[in-house]
Amino acid sequence: MTGGGGYIGSHACKALASAGHVPIVYDNFISGRPSAVKWGPSESGDICDKRRLSQILSHYNPDAVMHFAAFAYVGESIVDPAKYYYNNVFGTMSLLDSMVSHGVRKIVSSSSCATYGVPEVLPIAEHSRQAPINPYGASKLMVERMLDDYVAAYGLQSVSLRYFNAAGADPEGEIGEDHDPETHLIPLVLMAAAGGAPVTVFGTDYDTPDGTCIRDYVHVSDVAHAHVLALEVLCEGARSATYNLGSGSGASVMEIIESARRITGKEISPLFDRRRPGDPPVLLADIRQSAVGLGWRPVHDLDAMISTAWAWYTRAGRIPRGGPPFTARQSASAQ
Ligand code: UFG
Repeated sequence: MTGGGGYIGSHACKALASAGHVPIVYDNFISGRPSAVKWGPSESGDICDKRRLSQILSHYNPDAVMHFAAFAYVGESIVDPAKYYYNNVFGTMSLLDSMVSHGVRKIVSSSSCATYGVPEVLPIAEHSRQAPINPYGASKLMVERMLDDYVAAYGLQSVSLRYFNAAGADPEGEIGEDHDPETHLIPLVLMAAAGGAPVTVFGTDYDTPDGTCIRDYVHVSDVAHAHVLALEVLCEGARSATYNLGSGSGASVMEIIESARRITGKEISPLFDRRRPGDPPVLLADIRQSAVGLGWRPVHDLDAMISTAWAWYTRAGRIPRGGPPFTARQSASAQ
């Protein structure tokens, strides 16, 4: 598993181990955490490093690859697109080439709702037009296209999973979201609840009921479970496919703040600001296809996302560290 020390990757490791698999983590640990690797071997390495990939694939001879490693800050991708095309696109090509040469043919790959851009129709189905509005989304779309071509030409079998807004933490509290700096809404709202700075609301003039952006938040453990199901369908010989992973319902920025106030019992002050570049007004997933193809349905609601995240952050004083959203200071993010 590439990026297994990251937020979604570490939750997928836990889900895989619970299902009887052994996840072998391959991570450069730029932003992944060695401490989040708890359910199998941990190997340090970069996806752009074919020689190291070859060593690891020869040593473990895995049945399949799960590919989480990527840079994933939309804002950073706008100011430093080269970093995104190099790591996300070239890095994935290096990984796929290594898989082909070692005869590893099954891959579950992380994609994103950012590949859709501003949707023409809501909710967004998998066959919707893909027209990303930032380099991060473009890099993930290129990866999807590359996978399609590698499937057709080299006999790979792939499942691409397009995440909407993954949120929350392991309900048993073993792992959680730990980006540095943190730019995501729910962690920053909880940081504000814990007594930090007010949370900035990016844009209040969107064409939505309260003027703030609507996103489809989905619990990270549900996302992790979908990976186990994707692996199982690949092992049963299913055709390559792409699925949305969302909850199917949306929440605005102000609704997130309101829910967090209710759940934490703390005051949270919003600071209203301009729109953030690269933000579509509304993203909402059509998740019917993932129910049909994977037998997947999310089981955790928004309250569970906020309360498991709050439990994770408040335990041992793990309050997220915010940072300016679009500066070179932002570092790599393994998903
Ligand atoms: N937001 C704020 N204030 C903040 C942070 C975020 O108002 O301090 C708003 C954003 O403008 C957005 C919403 O909260 O409307 C959610 O923002 P996040 O940064 O939490 O998440 P994004 O929707 O930007 O990003 C997610 C994934 C990306 C993916 C993107 C697709 O984290 O990997 O969806 O649009 F690319």
